[in-house]
Amino acid sequence: MIARAEIALPSYVNEILAGLSSVSKSLPCKLFYDQIGSALFEQITRLPEYYLTRTELAILEGNADEIIKTAGSPISVVELGAGTATKTRTLLRSVARRQIRVKYFPVDISPSALAEAQRGVREQFPGALVRPVIADLSHGFGFLRDISGPKLVLYLGSSIGNFDGNESTELLRKLRGELSSGDALLLGTDTVKSEEILLPAYDDRQGVTREFNKNILRRINRELGGNFDLDAFCHRVEWNAACSRMEIYLESCCEQQVLLRWTGTVIRFLQGERIHTENSYKYTDDMVCRMLARAGFQHERTWLDGQKWFALHLARVLN
Ligand code: AVI
Repeated sequence: MIARAEIALPSYVNEILAGLSSVSKSLPCKLFYDQIGSALFEQITRLPEYYLTRTELAILEGNADEIIKTAGSPISVVELGAGTATKTRTLLRSVARRQIRVKYFPVDISPSALAEAQRGVREQFPGALVRPVIADLSHGFGFLRDISGPKLVLYLGSSIGNFDGNESTELLRKLRGELSSGDALLLGTDTVKSEEILLPAYDDRQGVTREFNKNILRRINRELGGNFDLDAFCHRVEWNAACSRMEIYLESCCEQQVLLRWTGTVIRFLQGERIHTENSYKYTDDMVCRMLARAGFQHERTWLDGQKWFALHLARVLN
């Protein structure tokens, strides 16, 4: 066995070991997003069953002028978890109509996605100021101190829904702490709807979400010397109405044990035992308003699509 000291272990190794050795096994969903996982997620956003991305885009396209008017101007647009910023261009077009210079600060953990965002926005808005910020949101929002003037912060895609109740409020409270009176937040949230729509969105016919889920095991095999057999785990999804969330699991198809060579850890699984890999919260209007209020934001307006499948909320920082 290779000794622990010879290998540079990833920073999240303790989270993985704690999650896999607890009575109810779990893994942090941030592990999904290595290069393969990010590409799989891009594919998910284009699946017919995954209504979230296209519905949010339709709301943005139908209401961009009104959203930007409500946010106020002039503003700098800061986008948290911007990725390649494809959805944002609709909003920036409306900003360009109301102020002389578009100022856009895409924030993401992935330098390659940011480079793509910068290229695309500069191409479409040649005079724009585009300043990418490489940051991990779990380390806070200190980067906002370097951006002067009134801001509109975008947190789209229902990314907030992958945090548990207290974590999401805490994240928004930290964000609020770095903003000034009058600044605005545009928050995208998925709505509560029937299981017939929710379940296929997380268990698509082509099996892309299954691969996305199993990629977490592939990553552990690569980065911790694991020997997870991906075929010995099934993708499982459930709607938990009491907690208002989709729950995503990997279920062991048989009794088995897995070795993580770099840490010398053995993990035992019973047949049917699960690893909880993700929660995806679905919100009522009331839940969003309470979350925003607890974090210190004042809810101002909501835009929905015709079927009420997705919502965009504008909230304000007041003194
Ligand atoms: C990124 N996030 C909002 C997605 C969601 O819908 O919760 C992640 C995802 N997991 C499975 N499919 C998509």
